[in-house]
Amino acid sequence: MKSLSEKIEHIYLLQEATDYLILFARERNLSAEDLEQRLNRIYQEYEQTGTYWQTNEELTYGAKVAWRNSVNCIGRIGWQSLTVRDLRYLTTAEDIFAAIVEHIKTATNQGKIRPTISIFAPQKPGEEGIRIWNPQFIRYAGYRQPDGTVIGDRDQLELTEICQRMGWKGEGTRFDILPLIIKSPKQPPKLFDLPKEVVMEVPITHPNYSWFADLGLKWHALPAVSDWRLEIGGISYPASPFNGWYMSAEIGSRNFSDTHRYNMLPVVAKKMGLKTDSKLSLWKDRALVELNVAVLHSFAKHGVKIVDHHTASKQFMQHWKEEEKDNRIVPADWGKTIPPISPSTTEVFHQSMENVCLKPNFFPQPIPWHEMSNLSSFAPSIMSCPFHDHLKNTPQAVHHPL
Ligand code: ARG
Repeated sequence: MKSLSEKIEHIYLLQEATDYLILFARERNLSAEDLEQRLNRIYQEYEQTGTYWQTNEELTYGAKVAWRNSVNCIGRIGWQSLTVRDLRYLTTAEDIFAAIVEHIKTATNQGKIRPTISIFAPQKPGEEGIRIWNPQFIRYAGYRQPDGTVIGDRDQLELTEICQRMGWKGEGTRFDILPLIIKSPKQPPKLFDLPKEVVMEVPITHPNYSWFADLGLKWHALPAVSDWRLEIGGISYPASPFNGWYMSAEIGSRNFSDTHRYNMLPVVAKKMGLKTDSKLSLWKDRALVELNVAVLHSFAKHGVKIVDHHTASKQFMQHWKEEEKDNRIVPADWGKTIPPISPSTTEVFHQSMENVCLKPNFFPQPIPWHEMSNLSSFAPSIMSCPFHDHLKNTPQAVHHPL
């Protein structure tokens, strides 16, 4: 006798599989017979195994549509050109790490970034799935100082502490690349250092202000989100890291400017000689513009692909028109689509948007270490200090991490 939740799961999977296969058949021009045959096979396989294995085409197209359906993303015009790496046969942390290093290399492509997704083994019914603990392949550590200040990226405080408790030692600079933590089902999480040479970074300079270089800022070339779950036809891929290229404002207006990140606006404004004691000087706004100029200038100088927010907005509106031609809407979260600099100067600001969840799609997942009750087994010192509770109780940053 199945429990109610098992029955619901059962209905969900078959419903989602059917919906996706219908979409796939429509968009990939499958005949009605092919569709019927494939659905029958899926239902049969489901009866025997409680799940089903997608074809490489179903997986590849599903990943592209998941990007198309991502309501936070302004760069979706390129959805069809996503490179999909079918790595579903990989399950061990060691193999996954090696594949990630390869992903970083080929996607960075010496600066000519290639949007890429690596899809590792799907979640099996009733089992936990593979998780990459880092929110992105490349993140800078954040170190809490005794006086409460932070060196590095404040967003990564918890992960940095976990890495340290698993034996990692950072150099203590503002830009230490965190090791990756990968957890396979029934295995303890494992820690891996990224080889330095695969991580491309861009030193930040300004076309007009020579002092800008002295700020010692840099950022990595590849934005690769690694903690979201991909769902296609009812099947979950909890480890399916993907990357595009940066829009300059992500770095200039958020990573460098947010007060809870690198908080550089006051520093830049002072260097520019602006009156930071008067709101009327609009010093924050002016410093923000120059930071964005510096990011664009530096990425271009080092041959690293990046898009400014005006071009990104234009491309998004073009994508909108192309989708309309295909009789599809572009689901979008307006607040996350408009750029975090001069939004009203871009067309997307004046476009009304419908924030609906279509599938396939990417979904955020619970923070893995917040869910674990036995943290102590892999990081013994955790239980002997208030750290564990502190981790559990720390409210997760609610400011838009993407
Ligand atoms: N906003 C994130 C960051 O600054 C990256 C999110 C994904 N961005 C992208 N362009 N694909 O690191």
